[in-house]
Amino acid sequence: MRNLFVGGILLMGILSTTVLAHVGAVGVVKERMESMKTIGAAMKQIKAMINGRADFVPERVKELAGAIADHSGTAINRVFPVGSNFEPSQAKPAIWENWQVFADLAVLMERQALQLAADAVTSGAVAKAYQELSKTCKSCHKKFRLKKKRR
Ligand code: HEC
Repeated sequence: MRNLFVGGILLMGILSTTVLAHVGAVGVVKERMESMKTIGAAMKQIKAMINGRADFVPERVKELAGAIADHSGTAINRVFPVGSNFEPSQAKPAIWENWQVFADLAVLMERQALQLAADAVTSGAVAKAYQELSKTCKSCHKKFRLKKKRR
């Protein structure tokens, strides 16, 4: 009876550790997807101002570009712990095989987002900085993101 009780406690311990590890892992994938969504939404709003579909408000561009910078650089590194490319993540294993390349792109994104904020004076300057930044998005996605979500 006592053995059964101890066994039960042990099993509970093992189960809750597994569950916690899983929740933590899902957490970071979810967190970075949301982070990328924030970045994507900010880019869309800036683009609308460049195209004249929205009023060009320099202060707003600065704010949006600042939000992108906040989600770049080491903030990116933090949400990509080694091997965290499980469902439904689109992260490629190549990230951890070429970590320096990946980390450098994250830093470049931060620098270009800050440049975009600094250039938020005329719509022309914003358009140019926006172009540079969006090249970095594409370059990183091409190397390190799967085209389709895993299902
Ligand atoms: C350092 C590499 C890197 C850079 C730079 C980068 N991304 Fe990403 N992005 C990724 C990876 C990897 C994923 C897939 C993450 C996952 O599914 O776990 C992703 C996913 C996304 C997603 C999909 C999120 C979702 O809901 O699944 C969007 C939108 C996105 N990125 C937008 C952008 C934009 C816009 C930029 C540029 C301003 C950018 N990214 C720059 C690596 C990068």
